[in-house]
Amino acid sequence: MHIQEWLAQTQKEHYGVITGASSGIGKCFAQRLAKEGIPLLLVSENQGELEATADELRQEGAVRIETYVANFFKPAEVRKLAKFLTQKKISIFVNNAGIGMKGLFHTNSAEAYNQLININIAAMTTLMHAVLPGLQQQNYGLVINVSSINSLVSIPHNQVYTASKAYVTSFARALAYENQDTKIIFQLLLPGTTDTPFHTRQDASPQMGVMLPDDVARISLESVGVKEVIPNKADWLVPLIARIVPTQVAMRIAVYALKMRLGVK
Ligand SMILES: NC(=O)c1ccc[n+]([C@@H]2O[C@H](COP(=O)([O-])OP(=O)(O)OC[C@H]3O[C@@H](n4cnc5c(N)ncnc54)[C@H](OP(=O)(O)O)[C@@H]3O)[C@@H](O)[C@H]2O)c1
Repeated sequence: MHIQEWLAQTQKEHYGVITGASSGIGKCFAQRLAKEGIPLLLVSENQGELEATADELRQEGAVRIETYVANFFKPAEVRKLAKFLTQKKISIFVNNAGIGMKGLFHTNSAEAYNQLININIAAMTTLMHAVLPGLQQQNYGLVINVSSINSLVSIPHNQVYTASKAYVTSFARALAYENQDTKIIFQLLLPGTTDTPFHTRQDASPQMGVMLPDDVARISLESVGVKEVIPNKADWLVPLIARIVPTQVAMRIAVYALKMRLGVK
């Protein structure tokens, strides 16, 4: 179902909350939902980038845009945001903020891994926990949990990131199952390599098979009601490979793909 069809059946005055809305995939979700007339609460860490995104959307005619700055590396800031979200009427939650980290395990600091775990695992769980009761009470809503196609395979040189996204995939599937008798729609989004600052933040430059973030957001929003969305056609065989190919072979293929796509040595 297209998002427009779903919105026709729902309350347009409730908020769409997007984490990681200042750039990349999250920003494209914000642009598309703003065009549908949804009031938005945009969340990210960099105030300047976030306000610039909000201003752009206002100039393009968005109905109502609010911003909330929080650093998801810091659990206290996430808890404060979670409390704030319990007081909002929400109909759409795009649980998207995340960071990547590549390199052999010992080449990054333990502190950097803790930060990744705080944002990719702890924050997305805490915020989901804050938003869900309101959705259950009103018995409708759309939740998009942004994982990664890489969550389906263990990937050396990208081990903590892919493990964090394996958590997101497992968590999102189980949560959708628990709520299958409600009118809340859950979508697990499994993007492949997408051209966003996600890669430059890791000093990487994707070379091939790269999607535009707006196409990822568009395909997701055209697929409301589809439980698991793989926007990049080049990735459609990955779930099958992950199931039938022996783990050691799958990891070898994944490392090769990582080197080709991201220039990892
Ligand atoms: N790009 C890809 O190839 C790809 C592939 C598969 C999955 N994904 C997933 O897609 C999601 C979005 O990634 P993207 O590609 O759009 O990356 P991006 O352009 O780097 O966007 C990441 C967003 O997360 C926010 N963020 C980063 N650190 C934060 C922090 N400490 N606290 C709060 N917010 C923070 C950023 O805000 P600030 O600018 O304020 O820091 C930004 O809005 C992530 O979960 C990522 O794992 C991406």
